[in-house]
Amino acid sequence: MAKNKLRRFAEMKSMACVFEPDMETSVRDDFELKGRWNSDYFKNNNPIIVELGCGKGEYAVGLGKSYPAKNYIGVDIKGARIYEGAIVVENEKLNNIGFVRARIDFVETFFGENEVDEIWLTFSDPQPNKPNKRLSSKVFIDKYRRFLKPGGIIHLKTDSDLLFESTLEEIELHHYSLLEKTWDLYGEMPEDLDSQTRDILSIRTHYETIFSAKGFKIKYCRFKIS
Ligand SMILES: C[S@@+](CC[C@H](N)C(=O)[O-])C[C@H]1O[C@@H](n2cnc3c(N)ncnc32)[C@H](O)[C@@H]1O
Repeated sequence: MAKNKLRRFAEMKSMACVFEPDMETSVRDDFELKGRWNSDYFKNNNPIIVELGCGKGEYAVGLGKSYPAKNYIGVDIKGARIYEGAIVVENEKLNNIGFVRARIDFVETFFGENEVDEIWLTFSDPQPNKPNKRLSSKVFIDKYRRFLKPGGIIHLKTDSDLLFESTLEEIELHHYSLLEKTWDLYGEMPEDLDSQTRDILSIRTHYETIFSAKGFKIKYCRFKIS
């Protein structure tokens, strides 16, 4: 592994905003902050919003800076990516943002029942050959159900037609409530959106920037599962 990467990984271990539960912790289901994020980490009762597959955490960090009265947690397995968001959180002392470096496959062991208000799926891998590995598949939605508050919203932003289409199919098949959808977010931003929501949707992630530059239309939907 490159020296720089090793240094960053070591540095991340000392960052108060990064948690790295190992697989044994998930198997035992005894992650220290499960059900205790508000009391033990954020030390407030503000809503918690989770960005899954956060990469560098543009949504977690961008929204965390804009909305200090809400709490944000980015989850990703790639340490080098999380580092980019975590270093901003450390340097700017943003106490409403945290990161979990772990596999999302164990996400129900990181959060307790009714602990999370909203979920963002930002440019998730489309998994063309493994539909059950898509973060909007029923397999994952059933995990989210265990910690998302009733009426909690799931947002999905993607460049992938395949992922978007399959998400819309899942929404219909399982009778989730579709609240908003657009196949071309920046070309046809839905008219009924307030200015705050427009600002939120306009945050561009690393992958979004790459795929927008290649001419891919950015798709967005939000839905409720209960
Ligand atoms: C295409 S990237 C998008 C990253 C970021 N959201 C963005 O828009 O720039 C997908 C991210 O999801 C993460 N990811 C995919 N499947 C995962 C899993 N099962 N557990 C943890 N992270 C996962 C990858 O490590 C990667 O950083």
